[in-house]
Amino acid sequence: MKETVIRKKITAPAVREMKRARMRIVALTCADFVTSRLLDEAGVDVILVGDSLGTTLLGYESTVSVTMREMLHHLKAVTRARPKALVVADMPFGSYHQSIAQAVRNAVRMAREGGADAVKLEGGFAQAEKIRAIVETGIPVMAHLGLLPQSVLREGGYRVQGRTAAQVRDLRRDLRAVERAGAFACVLEYVRASMARKLTAQTSIPTIGIGSGLHCDGQVLVTSDLLGLQAWLTPKAARKYADLGSIMSGAFKQFARDVREGDFPGKEESFE
Ligand code: KIV
Repeated sequence: MKETVIRKKITAPAVREMKRARMRIVALTCADFVTSRLLDEAGVDVILVGDSLGTTLLGYESTVSVTMREMLHHLKAVTRARPKALVVADMPFGSYHQSIAQAVRNAVRMAREGGADAVKLEGGFAQAEKIRAIVETGIPVMAHLGLLPQSVLREGGYRVQGRTAAQVRDLRRDLRAVERAGAFACVLEYVRASMARKLTAQTSIPTIGIGSGLHCDGQVLVTSDLLGLQAWLTPKAARKYADLGSIMSGAFKQFARDVREGDFPGKEESFE
């Protein structure tokens, strides 16, 4: 008999509690209905509708091009699957930078129109007042420190963080600031592993690492990297758990061959 596991909806306080209970947090990105269902069936704790969908799905050069409209479109597809996992929506570039009012307005759109359980935004000390205001509105916030992909134009590229004394000082200050502002968790992206370990020990909120070593409280990966969808683009921090890119390519080639050689459709795929 097939066993059905009924699990409770995961909330932001429950994710925060996982740190105290020493349970590792499992997070993956998602941008569509089918993947949302599959991730939820697999028991993932956090589904992140990350703005990386701009580069992995929409063909943009960077996440700077992603808009609120695009994020809401994908977020709605993900939440239509009604996952039990906590759905966190990334606030895209420019959707929270102008003012506290703009940040709150767009966070409310993510929750009300998109059905997000929480939002994520990049930055520490400089964004703390916005984090506080969104949390006071009633929407949980996941912070994001270390490598900030939305700042690629200013930084001129993507680099591992926590290497210089100034970066170490800023990371400590930023993590303290987002924790005090009420963030329930914090992504650490491409932070030197030994630094990520220290930061994780120094904060009461869970850290969720990507490219930041084993000692964060949880791990997040971009799902298309894990699935090997884009063979030409596998970051060092990702582990390829499947080679879907090759499988898809093989299936497309086979279909093309079958059509050209008159092998598709067969009798079983036709209606008399
Ligand atoms: O957009 C995204 O996928 C992210 C992860 C890299 C954490 O922010």
